[in-house]
Amino acid sequence: MCGIVAYYGPNQAYDFLIKGLQRLEYRGYDSAGVALLNGDLRVYKNAGKVSELEAIADNQNVTGTRGIGHTRWATHGEPNSINAHPHLSQSGDIALIHNGIIENYDTLKKVLISRGHEFKSDTDTEVLTHLIEEIKEEEQVDLLEAVRLALNEVIGAYAIVILSKNDPNTLIAARKGSPLVVGISENEGEFFLASDATPIVEYTKKVTYLDDNEIVSIHDGEMTLKTIDNVIKSPFIQELEISLDALEKGGYEHFMLKEIFEQPKSIYDSMRGRFDPVNLTFAMRSLVEYSGKIRNLDRIIIIACGTSWHAGLVGEYLIEEFGRIPVEVEYASEFRYRNPIITEDDLVIAISQSGETADTLAALEMAKEKGATIYGICNVVGSSIPRITHAGAYTHAGPEIGVASTKAFTAQVTVLTLLALGIADIRGKISKKRLREMFAELDTIPHKVELLLESCNEKCKEIAAIYQDAPNCLYLGRGYNFPVALEGALKLKEISYIHAEGYPAAEMKHGPIALIDEEMPVIVIAPKRNYYEKLLSNVQEVKARKGKIIAIVTEGDEKVKEIADHYIEIPDTEDCLTPILATIPLQLLSYYIAVNRGCNVDQPRNLAKSVTVE
Ligand code: G6P
Repeated sequence: MCGIVAYYGPNQAYDFLIKGLQRLEYRGYDSAGVALLNGDLRVYKNAGKVSELEAIADNQNVTGTRGIGHTRWATHGEPNSINAHPHLSQSGDIALIHNGIIENYDTLKKVLISRGHEFKSDTDTEVLTHLIEEIKEEEQVDLLEAVRLALNEVIGAYAIVILSKNDPNTLIAARKGSPLVVGISENEGEFFLASDATPIVEYTKKVTYLDDNEIVSIHDGEMTLKTIDNVIKSPFIQELEISLDALEKGGYEHFMLKEIFEQPKSIYDSMRGRFDPVNLTFAMRSLVEYSGKIRNLDRIIIIACGTSWHAGLVGEYLIEEFGRIPVEVEYASEFRYRNPIITEDDLVIAISQSGETADTLAALEMAKEKGATIYGICNVVGSSIPRITHAGAYTHAGPEIGVASTKAFTAQVTVLTLLALGIADIRGKISKKRLREMFAELDTIPHKVELLLESCNEKCKEIAAIYQDAPNCLYLGRGYNFPVALEGALKLKEISYIHAEGYPAAEMKHGPIALIDEEMPVIVIAPKRNYYEKLLSNVQEVKARKGKIIAIVTEGDEKVKEIADHYIEIPDTEDCLTPILATIPLQLLSYYIAVNRGCNVDQPRNLAKSVTVE
């Protein structure tokens, strides 16, 4: 949460900062601000979006070849302009931006107040600016050393960048727990810093990702890296693989719609080159390297949050069906605080689009400490989770910018399918015949998704127009499509603010059925696979109570269609692959309902895409 950008170089910083903040707005959009250094240190900040900041700053003096910028997702202090970053030190000479939480800020603040410091905001961040300045003056050290000493007093998570009026040729940044990337330009002495690589890729492909407890100092155009324990390190520089097109809307009204329509490609990319349907082999390095471990596994634990947790549930069904290993799926935030039993024999799989979710990361670290093998299924290359795991597989869905996750989910399920099949193969739990069938069907999925998008888009629009004012909505599914019901409900509430619940269809009788009346839309995921007849009974139960039924059915279905008020057909496929297809009309339904209600689809209220606070 919170996005940070910074520029140091021979050119004007402002345009890079604003453009960068816009790219990072998915991380929070409660307020935005920039600080520019050009002799004096000027700060422009405001509650609201980057566009509102631009409207104010554009008429001011925005010159400066050093600059920092921030887009905020509020944690401490309400989202007003005073709490917006950058924050200044007591003298106003040091400006700082921060992503994360300083947990011991209250104690530090009390000490600083007792020494005469006056604070303007309610934020934890402002404390850090005062602390750095106090140390610099008291200890008579340079800015870098003051930052280093200050960070040794801090408990919590941070990615920070600091500018100082008295050190115009210096820019300092540090990381612990929140991401930070430094882009190194072809132009000598030019550097771009950001929470992720998306603001940087337009300017340079050469980047280094900071590790925890590292401080980078750019001084007189030279970059040096050290730890907060004062150990000098040499940066590991790598090439970015993101293309600029992937970061633009490409003619779509919203990123979310673009990302929904990208799924034939993103699903294909998530499986591309990972299996050989002729020789029936896998080309996933993690499977090869860890085959010994997988053969002897007793249990797998999947940890995740939000949409990724829903993918984890599908993963549980897949791995148990094919690999025949018990799987537990845990909310990362619950898992890490309940003293779970983890042994060296466990495989702990973290699923995360961003690779930065604080709870998932912390839960994974805990599992690693206890000796488990940890595995990551992440989308953002170079993010924190893949960097701490023993093994993993990227989803390769490409940048997902809409806050509501769409293509990342279907890519996660695809990778989990391959993982489940790979585990089954290693453990001798799947016949060659079945593997051949599965590979053949997987091969067809991108094309089926393409056909489905074409065939269901208009229908989803029509249905959305009918139900856009519904106050509540129920989603029902069984088996593999129970997690899809959860995901459908989450998508609707995230972006349209309609209250929605996902339930296993048979559980409806144990409570939610009381809610059903003629006002209640009930979305039933009813592909013609396992449990079809049982689901049919559940649909009848809704009908008997006059609920409005919107059914997701297999092409050619007759029975459910007859009972439903509306239906959307999906192509026939293997039961375990129906989640990939059934999710797509649910994404479109939510999208069109939210658009009709005038909601900000890509940046829903109160949410952030990358949740780097616990
Ligand atoms: C936030 C996002 C969700 C996402 C969840 C987990 O809540 O709004 O879309 O599913 O975080 O994020 P991750 O990056 O770990 O998948």
